[in-house]
Amino acid sequence: MVKISASILDCNFLHLEEEVCAVLNAGIDALHLDIMDGHFVPNLSFGLPIVRAVHKISSVPIYSHLMVTNPETLIEKFLPYSDYIIFHIEATDKPEFCIDIITAANKKAGVSLNPNTPIEKISFLLDRIDDVLIMSVFPGLGGQKFIPESLNRIKRVRELRTETRTNFTVSVDGGICPANCQAVIEAGADMLIAGSAIFKSNDYTQTVRQLRCLKY
Ligand code: DX5
Ligand code: ZN
Repeated sequence: MVKISASILDCNFLHLEEEVCAVLNAGIDALHLDIMDGHFVPNLSFGLPIVRAVHKISSVPIYSHLMVTNPETLIEKFLPYSDYIIFHIEATDKPEFCIDIITAANKKAGVSLNPNTPIEKISFLLDRIDDVLIMSVFPGLGGQKFIPESLNRIKRVRELRTETRTNFTVSVDGGICPANCQAVIEAGADMLIAGSAIFKSNDYTQTVRQLRCLKY
């Protein structure tokens, strides 16, 4: 069954603990923390204090999605509070060093690609990573519209996984909602990341169920 991860970017930060507990109760499989530096992406989001706080109350794996320039300078700080560190291939000229830092701490490494970055750019890393994060919007903001061309990119990364006989998971991030989740799952996603679709809904449990494309 497809996994659902909640991005807290659009939660009510005045009630962070309640919001995290509510999505945990709704049955999510992972938490997705969007760290933005105002440089790699035009916005700032949150950093270590929030990641540390969420880690304290989480019962599911934490994926720290680093939308930061030169992630190799920051990864170490996030490692103690993350199960997966996802960095962007466009943000560093030292991707192998990033993976070294993450795996040396016995944590899982993931690489993310912006919508206009050729999938083949990460071919040489595939046997060393645990997750490929396909961005289905341009990173920097929650609540954007899913870019339909992402479906072909998900299929392509699945093909590459077969061709290279590697076994990373394929995650998809940005604009995921009940209306498109079926197509994203059929394209080959192992994990759907959803922010606004969950946190702007009235019933988190129902929305998480819908995102799994479960009929009842
Ligand atoms: C975009 C972030 C995503 C996104 C998810 O920069 O990486 O995680 O905010 O939020 P929605 O589901 O609202 O697109
Ligand atoms: Zn993200």
